[in-house]
Amino acid sequence: MGVTGGIAAYKSLDVLRILQRHGHGVSVVMTHTAERFVGSASFAALSGREVGTALFGDAEQPGYHHLDVNDGMDLMLVAPASANTISQMASGAASSLLTSCYLAFRGPVVVAPAMNTSMWLHPATERNIATLRADGVHLVEPESGLLADGAVGPGRLAEPASIVDAVEAVLAGRAGTRDLAGRTVLISAGGTREPIDAVRYVGNRSSGRMGWALAAAARDRGADVVVVQANVDLPREQGIRYVDAPTAAAMRDACRAEFPACDMLIMCAAVADYRPVDAADGKLDKSKADALTVEMERTTDILAELSALREDQVLVGFAAEHGPEGLERARGKRARKAVDIVVHNDAAVEGAAFEGADNIITIIGPESEQALPRMSKRDCAERILDAARPLVEALASRA
Ligand code: C5P
Repeated sequence: MGVTGGIAAYKSLDVLRILQRHGHGVSVVMTHTAERFVGSASFAALSGREVGTALFGDAEQPGYHHLDVNDGMDLMLVAPASANTISQMASGAASSLLTSCYLAFRGPVVVAPAMNTSMWLHPATERNIATLRADGVHLVEPESGLLADGAVGPGRLAEPASIVDAVEAVLAGRAGTRDLAGRTVLISAGGTREPIDAVRYVGNRSSGRMGWALAAAARDRGADVVVVQANVDLPREQGIRYVDAPTAAAMRDACRAEFPACDMLIMCAAVADYRPVDAADGKLDKSKADALTVEMERTTDILAELSALREDQVLVGFAAEHGPEGLERARGKRARKAVDIVVHNDAAVEGAAFEGADNIITIIGPESEQALPRMSKRDCAERILDAARPLVEALASRA
């Protein structure tokens, strides 16, 4: 475990503890800056092992210190990873013991960045993170929240338990598939808002979480990801291109523009089925009338329209249904819209589907159906991509 300089360095003591509780042996390497935040003695005491800090080992025992440190290690974790260390790792600089260990290490590497929001969002850091991803490094995205400098935004070290989850996923071979490398995945996310007047709209409860999870999963599997998003209030992630499309009409235009270049479309957004025929210019004045009737018209079904235009794209639709007949309606949707996969979820289940962190889905594919138990939206996303990827492959081999 590499520890670099930052306020979050103290949290790596927790990471170390949890790893040990799960039965892993941990050796720690620190940068000199990290030592200004937490003493090496704490890591030495907890790990029960010598902590590496200096590039040059003991003059009394000559050897190749960075190679000795790596010996017998199954995985390298850097948590927290500072902007500086990330930059050195991306460029291949070997100026510290930690970065020398990284260059010399042959196994999987997990990096959990932590830094101030401006540093995290700087184009240089974005480039370096993209380079690390392309080099096969597994990223544990920082979280959004209140940072040590008082700013609110992305950059806070992921929770120690999530970092350990990521490490164990990699060790178990559950992470690291780059089976979508070279593919472009277009994902719609969020819920559209259809204006009634200049300030009011007809909207829905979609949070965008499922679309966000799909985008991150597809990116981590190597895809180029474009998210057409409607009114999602979640932090944007690196390595993903976002197009804003707040209304059904804007979403239709954006999806049509992006569709020809994609290999897979996942239409996850809750697109309004009806919109007010005329949106009033200003704000409607309630003193003018006791009741308001808004005439609504149907919007274009984007998924059905794109399905008629498709050349060799794989199409995935969602069906948020209420109640027991929902599954049958979702099956019907797959046929009617002529898409490859429909993901059914029961919008009546508390805490699942809209807004929640979990979902309960049934993946209705061309050959089979998979009814899955309740799981995180990220896990749902992985299962949806597992089902869709072979179809992309089949189309590619046909071409
Ligand atoms: O017919 P229903 O709205 O239930 O179908 C849901 C699926 O169709 C979702 O994938 C949704 O994104 C898509 N849809 C669409 N355009 C609309 C309405 C829904 O693409 N106007």
